[in-house]
Amino acid sequence: MRRPLAIVILVAANLNALAAGLRAEEARDFTLSVSAEIAESGLLAHILPRFALKTGRRAVIAGAPAAVRIGPLAEGGTPVMARGGRRFGISLAGEHDAARRFAGWLTSEIGQQAIAGFTPAEGAPFTGAVEAEVVAEVVITGDSALGRRVAETHCARCHRIAPEGRGIGIGSTPSFAALRALPDWDERFMAFYALNPHPSFLQVEGITPPFDPARPPAIVPVAITQAEAEAVLAYAASIAPADLGAPIVNR
Ligand code: HEC
Repeated sequence: MRRPLAIVILVAANLNALAAGLRAEEARDFTLSVSAEIAESGLLAHILPRFALKTGRRAVIAGAPAAVRIGPLAEGGTPVMARGGRRFGISLAGEHDAARRFAGWLTSEIGQQAIAGFTPAEGAPFTGAVEAEVVAEVVITGDSALGRRVAETHCARCHRIAPEGRGIGIGSTPSFAALRALPDWDERFMAFYALNPHPSFLQVEGITPPFDPARPPAIVPVAITQAEAEAVLAYAASIAPADLGAPIVNR
């Protein structure tokens, strides 16, 4: 009878170590489960980087049960968005700080704007749960002087980052002034690291997942901090939009 007891204690000790590890992770990552329609729409790839850039918290997509669930409102939860007459709710399981922040962000004006700003490849767009027309107001807090230095160091390799400055830009890579002239320039600079080609060579500390070891970057990888990413956004805000003359192809 002794042996099984010892094994039980050993297992309990391991579980404690595991639980401690999970608690340490808890601060930044939380699990998120969504219904099939949301998963297939591509909405998460649009909203999660925006949330991560603002908060440094990251959702890990998981099956139910997860810390946060977004599904048909019939399942319960707080109304968070709608699409073609179907309404979706968000609910939290247990006490989890990052999860609570995500739910708060998604139901806030900024989160609702992020939902409405997404254009699915197929099907109707999503709308926020709050019917009122939300006015886009971007509050940019980064340090634009730092942003310019970051851009000179890391972006000028490909982009022309200033009308007069260094960085001639290569080939079809858009200049920052041209990007700045697009109506959704802020959306693009907020999430550029999630937009191609950047994920293949660029990481934002604490936000982007590690490179796939099977597909190492083809060029010298770039690593920037969240503060640097915010600073680049502030720098972009300070650039005079290019006069593009011809209409732009909006992707
Ligand atoms: C290795 C080359 C390279 C580097 C370095 C690079 N970019 Fe880009 N970037 C591109 C290319 C190419 C595109 C155009 C992609 C397209 O149109 O599909 C682009 C597009 C963008 C866009 C528009 C994204 C979109 O889809 O609308 C933004 C914003 C942007 N880059 C910001 C940055 C910032 C900020 C940095 C530096 C931190 C940076 N890039 C570094 C190559 C690069």
